[in-house]
Amino acid sequence: MNAVDGGAVTASASVSVPAVVEVEGLRVTISPRGGRPVAPVQDVDLRIRRGEVVGLVGESGSGKTMLARAVAGLLAPGLRPRVEGRIHVLDRELGSASAAERRATLRTDLSYVFQDPNAHLNPTTRIGDQVAEVAVPNGNRVEDLFRSVGLPTTEEFARRYPHQLSGGMKQRVVIACALAKDPGVIIADEPTTALDVTIQAQVLRLLRDLATTREVGILLVSHDLAAIGQFCDSVAVMYAGRIVEEGPTSAILRTPRHPYTKALMGALFDIHTPEHRPVAIPGSVPALDDPPDGCRFGPRCGYRTEHCDDEPELIDVGPGRRSRCWNWERL
Ligand SMILES: Nc1ncnc2c1ncn2[C@@H]1O[C@H](COP(=O)(O)OP(=O)(O)OP(=O)(O)O)[C@@H](O)[C@H]1O
Ligand SMILES: [Mg+2]
Repeated sequence: MNAVDGGAVTASASVSVPAVVEVEGLRVTISPRGGRPVAPVQDVDLRIRRGEVVGLVGESGSGKTMLARAVAGLLAPGLRPRVEGRIHVLDRELGSASAAERRATLRTDLSYVFQDPNAHLNPTTRIGDQVAEVAVPNGNRVEDLFRSVGLPTTEEFARRYPHQLSGGMKQRVVIACALAKDPGVIIADEPTTALDVTIQAQVLRLLRDLATTREVGILLVSHDLAAIGQFCDSVAVMYAGRIVEEGPTSAILRTPRHPYTKALMGALFDIHTPEHRPVAIPGSVPALDDPPDGCRFGPRCGYRTEHCDDEPELIDVGPGRRSRCWNWERL
């Protein structure tokens, strides 16, 4: 799954489809012990509609996990996080909700899938029982859930323990658990990174299909722009805590309008144009406590001009598209 296939997914989300997640002006500040407070997420707006898969992509350290966890209410207390801005999940504003209301909304309406399936599964409980624990109180049947994630529906299989399953099967069990409460939203943070490459596409395809058939809104966090290109309706590209480009996946991959997106694409191997040699992006993501002045991508950018000493805002650059670059028309 190395080629970007921008045409594979058509943007199915239209304005009339209700949003299941709406984030506005989100800022997350963390104060890890022994370190200075830093803000790994700044000025983020994000919308996920029913049936839509939104990809969140960016290099390591760009803030993807912090953003995903802030939306899910799962930031580690040890980081002493402060969350500012508006987070709506299924029309409920979580920012101003009491802790109990927030927990109730997140417990019933949102599922989070971690990178490592072992982080979810209890090694000493049969997988059928683990799924039943969530499924039965919600009126769902384990057999139906296993069927919908492509797992065997036999009694023998349900009686297995996690260690008797492959990585891909375990992640399917985790997704069955995630579906068991009929959530409106699934947030999956690198859900396939721990899996065999050949299995990765299968699991992503499953999430893609479940979004459509069960009308779930999915946020798919990934390093892998090729995977995003294949399975997401829209994409948000994150750099140094901010979204730098967003819009329909096919349009962004056809004509990126931020130099960072373009650089991420240049770093890919594309089987359709094997003569293209992947080019690594020079430099690295800036430290959060010492960001460059002006555009944060400026020091690594080949399109930099004087204008870039002023920090760009997200500006409209096409239908449903925004970019945080003054020079987007020169790309
Ligand atoms: N436990 C921590 N202690 C201190 N700082 C942290 C911690 N976790 C994250 N950060 C800061 O937040 C920034 C964003 O981290 P985050 O985990 O969201 O990145 P990411 O985009 O998910 O990266 P990756 O692709 O590697 O998962 C990091 O660059 C780091 O500065
Ligand atoms: Mg992460």
